[in-house]
Amino acid sequence: MANINARILSTGRAYPEGLLTNADLEKLVETSDEWITSRTGIKQRHKAGEGEYTSQFAVRAAGQAIERARIDPSEIDLLICATVTPDQVLPSTGCLIQTELGAHRAAAFDLAAACSGFLYGLTLANQMIRGGQARYALVIGAEILTRYVDYTDRSTCVIFGDGAGAALLGPVEGERGMLATRIRSDGRLAEQLYAPGGGTRLGITADNVTTGQHYFRMKGNELFKVAVRSMADISREVLEEAGYKADDVKLFVPHQANQRITDAVASNLKVDSEIVYSNIAMHGNTSSASIPIALDECVEQGRISEGDLVLLASFGGGVTWGAVLMRW
Ligand SMILES: CC(C)(COP(=O)(O)OP(=O)(O)OC[C@H]1O[C@@H](n2cnc3c(N)ncnc32)[C@H](O)[C@@H]1OP(=O)(O)O)[C@@H](O)C(=O)NCCC(=O)NCCS
Repeated sequence: MANINARILSTGRAYPEGLLTNADLEKLVETSDEWITSRTGIKQRHKAGEGEYTSQFAVRAAGQAIERARIDPSEIDLLICATVTPDQVLPSTGCLIQTELGAHRAAAFDLAAACSGFLYGLTLANQMIRGGQARYALVIGAEILTRYVDYTDRSTCVIFGDGAGAALLGPVEGERGMLATRIRSDGRLAEQLYAPGGGTRLGITADNVTTGQHYFRMKGNELFKVAVRSMADISREVLEEAGYKADDVKLFVPHQANQRITDAVASNLKVDSEIVYSNIAMHGNTSSASIPIALDECVEQGRISEGDLVLLASFGGGVTWGAVLMRW
């Protein structure tokens, strides 16, 4: 077959029932609903309770996507779980999800690219499908970030939330599906968002846990500027590669990090605010889960029609960033 791309056949999403509102945060740190709303756009975020773990939500989101695509889990060749908050170090969360879903034929693994993980996953899955090594691929973004949040640090604790989103991909012929994909990273900026402990460098000792070495540290202000510039630039690159202008885009789904970042990227790209999707008020920043959750909501709300040009863009810890342009 000539000119094969991967396209999203179906989506799904899931999150914990627990909610953390701005009013709840006002009781934990010196902050206010007014500050959080005006500086980030966030009103609430989902927060996993004790005993809940990442793969539970991934399995629910992926199960919906599989059901909606009307395929059998055994037909899935590739399962990528983008996450920086896996269930455990070994095995991969991907393998745990594979077992729960009954996707026994799939090659399953985790992908750590923070908030860009889902777009990294789409890019890899697209190449595997284009190359004929996979027919159906499941790309999941799933995070329980709140386990790594220091609820005494007001600069990070207001931002992050938990959840999972999934997309099932299959091959399509012609000018459809993923028309251009691009992913990048710059490790020199690692300290803009990182967790020093929890791995092999600062191991899981009582002292490291007590002093909170596993918690996220963030230079929010610096990251803000990188985020706007990198998402706008890489979006222009995929548009140019596929031969389109920002005006042609019907729906723009940026990583949901901060409403002011979304607005700045949209204004930099000169796209109409009407076509920009935002759910940051309801979910906060769910890292790799943010774009697939948003996509599933867009499908549910009828914001995407067959044939629409859809632009996705992300940035995150690493620093990583990426963009995907697809014809739905
Ligand atoms: C984190 C972020 C919301 C902070 O907003 P900001 O406008 O840059 O604010 P600053 O960091 O400059 O801080 C301004 C002031 O607000 C204070 N502040 C920070 N968090 C606060 C909070 N939750 N409530 C009240 N005040 C707060 C700061 O202490 C600072 O006070 P000071 O001027 O007395 O020192 C913003 O920088 C951001 O969203 N950055 C990107 C982060 C991101 O997206 N991370 C995820 C990457 S995927």
